[in-house]
Amino acid sequence: MNAVPSNFKNQTKNERLIQWVDEIARLTQPKAIHWCDGSQKEYDTLAAELVKGGTFLKLNQEKRPNSYLARSDPRDVARVEGRTFICCLNRNDAGATNNWEDPAKMKETLTGLFSGCMRGRTMYVIPFSMGPLGSSIAHIGVEISDSAYVATNMRIMTRMGQGALDVLGERGEFVPCLHSVGKPLAEGEKDVPWPCNPENVYIAHFPEERAIWSFGSGYGGNALLGKKCFALRIASVMARDQGWLAEHMLILGAESPEGERTYVGAAFPSACGKTNFAMLVPPKGFEGWKIRTIGDDIAWIKPAKDGKLRAINPEAGFFGVAPGTSEETNPNAMATLHANCIYTNVALTDDGDVWWEGMTKDPPKHVIDWQGRDWTPETKTPAAHPNARFTAPASQCPSIDPAWEDPAGVPIAAFIFGGRMSKTMPLVFQAFNWAHGVYCAATMGSEKTAAAAGQADVRRDPMAMLPFCGYNMADYFTHWLNIGRNVPNPPRIFRVNWFRKDADGKFMWPGFGENMRVLKWVLDRCHGRGFAVESPVGWMPRHDSLNWEGLDYPAERFYELMKVDRAEGTLEANDHESLFDKFFDRLPKEFTFEREMLKSRLWRSPKVWELAHDEDF
Ligand code: GTP
Ligand code: SPV
Ligand code: MN
Repeated sequence: MNAVPSNFKNQTKNERLIQWVDEIARLTQPKAIHWCDGSQKEYDTLAAELVKGGTFLKLNQEKRPNSYLARSDPRDVARVEGRTFICCLNRNDAGATNNWEDPAKMKETLTGLFSGCMRGRTMYVIPFSMGPLGSSIAHIGVEISDSAYVATNMRIMTRMGQGALDVLGERGEFVPCLHSVGKPLAEGEKDVPWPCNPENVYIAHFPEERAIWSFGSGYGGNALLGKKCFALRIASVMARDQGWLAEHMLILGAESPEGERTYVGAAFPSACGKTNFAMLVPPKGFEGWKIRTIGDDIAWIKPAKDGKLRAINPEAGFFGVAPGTSEETNPNAMATLHANCIYTNVALTDDGDVWWEGMTKDPPKHVIDWQGRDWTPETKTPAAHPNARFTAPASQCPSIDPAWEDPAGVPIAAFIFGGRMSKTMPLVFQAFNWAHGVYCAATMGSEKTAAAAGQADVRRDPMAMLPFCGYNMADYFTHWLNIGRNVPNPPRIFRVNWFRKDADGKFMWPGFGENMRVLKWVLDRCHGRGFAVESPVGWMPRHDSLNWEGLDYPAERFYELMKVDRAEGTLEANDHESLFDKFFDRLPKEFTFEREMLKSRLWRSPKVWELAHDEDF
C-alpha cells in the first residue's frame, strides 16, 4: 500500500473505486490525495489555494461576490479535436469522423505519460452525478484530477461530492475519468498559474471499457470530463446500447399565455447560440409567453413508458461562451452571473470586475486582457479570448424551469437543428417526416467558430455531434432512425439558421429574442396549428404565418431570407454525397433515397424558389 497522505475516512465502501484510486495513485505518484465532499467549505478552501497559487484572482466582492477569474496558458484555450481519440477494439466502430487508436496501444502510451505525472501535486478524487442525484436517467462518474481548477469547476457543473458517493453505494457502477494537466513538479519547483502540457495532449475514450483518460490540457471539455467526454462521447455509446439518446442539445420549455407547456430540444454546433436560445426572452408582441431553461448544452433523452421521449439536463451548471453575452443579447445569462462564478480568459476591469467584447456598448477605457496585459480600445487584439467562458450554477438562472431537476425528465415535442450558414440555408423549415428530419439533421453544415482549435472553415456537423459521437456516425444515424420507429409519435424535426447574410455581409435575421417568432411557429406546428407551404427542402411558414407584432420585417425581406436557390441547393445536396461516401455500406439506405428525393425536388423547382406572396394563395 502506498503511504500517500489522504483524507480518506471510509467515505465510500465501493471496492472498485477504492482500488482504482489506489492504482492511479501508484501510477501517478501524487504528494497527497483529497476526496472531494462537495461542500461550500471545501470549495472556498480550494479557491483560496488557487488564489494563493496565482491560478485564481478574486474579483471585486461587491460586484461579483464569491467569483474568480482564471487566465489559461495561451496554448490551452479550447477543445483540441485533433487530439481527441475513440479507442475501441475495431477501428470501424469509431468510424471515419473520429480519430481512432488501438486501445492497448493508447493505454501503453498513456500509462507512460501518466507515470509519475502528479508528482508534487494533490490528486483530487471527484465523485459526481450527471443528472439529478438518484434519477433513473442519471449516471455516476468519478474524475481523478491533479487540478484544483477542475475540482472547483466540477462542483458547479455537476452534482459533485459525497452525495454522488452515497448514490454509488457499495456496488454501483461509475465511469472512471482520469485527468492530469501533465506537468509534474520537481522537488522545490515553483508551480505556474496554469500548468499544462500542450505538446502531449490526449483526450482518449475507451467505449468498451467506458473509461476516459485525458492528459495535458486543463481547459473546458478537455478537462471537465463529465461534460463532453462522459455525457456525450461515452454516454452516446451507452445510449446506443440501451436505446436512448445523448445529444449536444439545449432543452427549453415554452409556456403560452393560455398556459400550454411545450418542451423542445435544439442542437446547434459549439458557439452557435444554444445558451442564448435556451434563455430566450420573448420580444415585444409575445406578452404573456414564458420561456424556461432546462439545459444549455447537453440532453439525455430516454423513451418513457408513456411513449414519449423524456429529456434531462445531465449538468448542474453552464460553461458558456462569454463574448457576445450582454443585457441585450442574453439578460438571463447576465443575471445568472451575479455571484458564485468562475470566469476563464475574460478581461479584468480596473475595479476588479469582468469584461468581454460585446458586454457593453462602449468598451472600458482600460482593462487587463486575458493574457494579463494592459488593454485599451485602441489595442488590436481582443481583450477576452473569443472562447472565454463562464462557469455558472444553473440554479441561479432566472429562467430556470421548475422541472429542471425532475428525475423523470420533460417530454420533448420537437427537435430543432441549426448550423451557422451565411449562405444557402433558409431561416426555418420543417422536415416532411422523421426519416427526412434525421437526414436534415445529419447533413447540417456549419462555419468555423472559436470553440475548437483547428476546425475547418465550413464543415458538416451532423446533429452538432461531429466532435462528440463516441462511435461510428453512420451507426448513430441508424440509431436515430430506430428511435423514431420505436416511439408512437416521434417529435417533429426542424432546421433553423439564424446566420444567413446579405450581399453586404450583414446578418439578415435579427436573432436572439426575435428567434421567438420562429419558435412560436415551431410550437404551432407541433400542436397541428401553424400553416406551412411545401418547399423543395421542407415545410415553410408564409410571412403571415409568423407573428410580426413589435418587429418591422417586410415580407420581401422575409422571402429573401427563405429563398432556395436551385444551383446552390444542388451543390449542397452533392456535398452530402461526399460526407456520406466516408461511411461506405454502414450508411442507412434511407439516406440515399432522401438525397435523391431532395435533388429531384430541387430539379423540379424554379431557378430561385421563393415563398409566394400572400395574394397568390
Ligand atoms: P457551446 O457552449 O460551445 O456548445 O456553444 P453554444 O451553442 O451554447 O454557444 P452560445 O450560445 O454561447 O453562442 C455564442 C455565439 O453565438 C455568440 O457569438 C453569439 O453572439 C452568437 N449568437 C447566439 N444567438 C444568436 C442569434 O440568434 N443570432 C446571431 N447572429 N448570433 C447569435
Ligand atoms: C463546446 O465546445 O461545445 C462546449 C465547450 O460546450 S467545451 O466544454 O469546452 O467543450
Ligand atoms: Mn457544447
